[in-house]
Amino acid sequence: MNILQINSSARREASHSTRLADRIVARLKNAVPGATLTVRDLNRTPHPILDEAALGALFTPANQRTAEQAARVASDDALIAEIQAADVVVLGVPMYNFGVPAPLKNWIDAISRAGVTFRYTEKGPEGLLKRKKVYVALTRGGKYRNTPADTQVPYLRTVFTFLGLTDVHFVYAEGLSMGADAEQTALASAYDQIDEAVAA
Ligand SMILES: Cc1cc2nc3c(=O)[nH]c(=O)nc-3n(C[C@H](O)[C@H](O)[C@H](O)COP(=O)(O)O)c2cc1C
Repeated sequence: MNILQINSSARREASHSTRLADRIVARLKNAVPGATLTVRDLNRTPHPILDEAALGALFTPANQRTAEQAARVASDDALIAEIQAADVVVLGVPMYNFGVPAPLKNWIDAISRAGVTFRYTEKGPEGLLKRKKVYVALTRGGKYRNTPADTQVPYLRTVFTFLGLTDVHFVYAEGLSMGADAEQTALASAYDQIDEAVAA
């Protein structure tokens, strides 16, 4: 089993989402000894945004790209190869201003490639990243689960489904900025959710 861990918090050691993602990975490795792990920290190795130059590179035929364009496409290719090789994807995702961290959006923009990770057929879109499990550890200062303010879960579920990733488990740690007791309660609940999700 190949595990790909994606960390998206701007924080390093203090990040709850990274720690929860670490915990999911530890549980998975426990269940499947010999599992391999690739960790991509999107803040330590930031991926460039999808700007006009990047679009130009992607829409230029491979044999006509400049060296700079080829390098830009190759950097996206590397992220695509990582997720293609994974059997399980584990993401740590803080809520930042009601959305996902910008580096995670950049990663999603990089792995969403027509003809490679999705394609359109006469029946509509078809995701090409199949047979993978996804675990998402969500961390929030407030509490937004199952409310319209939680734009993260519908967004991530939509984009993952579009790419063929339909087996997605969300783990929530909410209320982390609501005092020490609320933080402890949130983390204890997240640990229980992790045990349940990995056992499922
Ligand atoms: C810039 C910034 C924006 C944030 N925006 C929100 C928010 O919109 N809603 C919320 O509930 N918490 C928000 N928080 C709190 C974080 O989600 C919370 O601290 C979380 O634990 C961060 O994840 P991490 O521990 O992995 O770094 C924000 C924190 C920061 C630093």
